[in-house]
Amino acid sequence: MSNQGRIVAGALAPHPPHLVYADNPPQNEPTSECGWENLRWGYDRLRADLEPLEPEVLVVLSPHWQTYIGNHFLGVPSFKSLSVDPVFPNLFRYHYDLKVDVPLAQSIHDAAADEGLVVKMMENPDFRVDYGTIVSCHLARPDWDLPIVSISSQRSTAFYSVEVMQEQMITLGRATRKAIEASGKRAVLLASNSLSHRHFTTEGDVPEDMSREHIYNHGQYLWDMRMIELMRAGKTREIIDVMPEFINQAISEADGGALTWMLGAMDFPDFGAEIYAYGTVIGTGNVVAGWYPNGEATS
Ligand SMILES: [Fe+2]
Repeated sequence: MSNQGRIVAGALAPHPPHLVYADNPPQNEPTSECGWENLRWGYDRLRADLEPLEPEVLVVLSPHWQTYIGNHFLGVPSFKSLSVDPVFPNLFRYHYDLKVDVPLAQSIHDAAADEGLVVKMMENPDFRVDYGTIVSCHLARPDWDLPIVSISSQRSTAFYSVEVMQEQMITLGRATRKAIEASGKRAVLLASNSLSHRHFTTEGDVPEDMSREHIYNHGQYLWDMRMIELMRAGKTREIIDVMPEFINQAISEADGGALTWMLGAMDFPDFGAEIYAYGTVIGTGNVVAGWYPNGEATS
């Protein structure tokens, strides 16, 4: 076996805090009765497929760590604190205790800098890790027994365009792949975003009341289905091509760059993704999906 590192899987791993709330893990203070089973059971199957690949590190890009000058990387070996969702403090008050693979983060940072990107290591030990990173990593690996590399979203969709964002995220993906290969490690990539992102503006009394949960409107649903069909067909370059329209029309959380970064890092898979689940959370469209290169079979 060669000691070249590789990406053993990439996952579209959305981060609605509702899914953690509904799972009732010991780290989260609020408790629920149930809810969003389709997505949670989809995550169960993703975890079952990741386990035999023996990953050594999770590399996640989150749209909720927003840095407007370049991509930043967690650069401290461990973080421990309480994460409270600013919009849903009633659902998510999560005690996290995580380890960071700082050498790999530094290597991706350096490779990205070599490619001409603006990057920075985040070395404040009191930094509060964003809930997108925490939720996606929890749902992919609730034991927290692997170190993570956490990458911020640099928001170029907002101040330039989707096209500029994608150019930069594809470059960051290439840098990510090079650094992982040089690391000798088996890495799982997590793109932490939902698809369509129009959401409800009022809440019910019971968050897990599934009689209220549905897509926000049919146009959003059609976009989600189109993106999922492209994923199933292995047409990832077409996903990149339609991304500007998708983001603008579906107000997609892919605007943060996570999905483009992951597909770029995996050199645009031409094989189909495993679709574990599709479901809405407060009306937003979420898919849990996995891409397995190098003949890594799913269960
Ligand atoms: Fe989000």
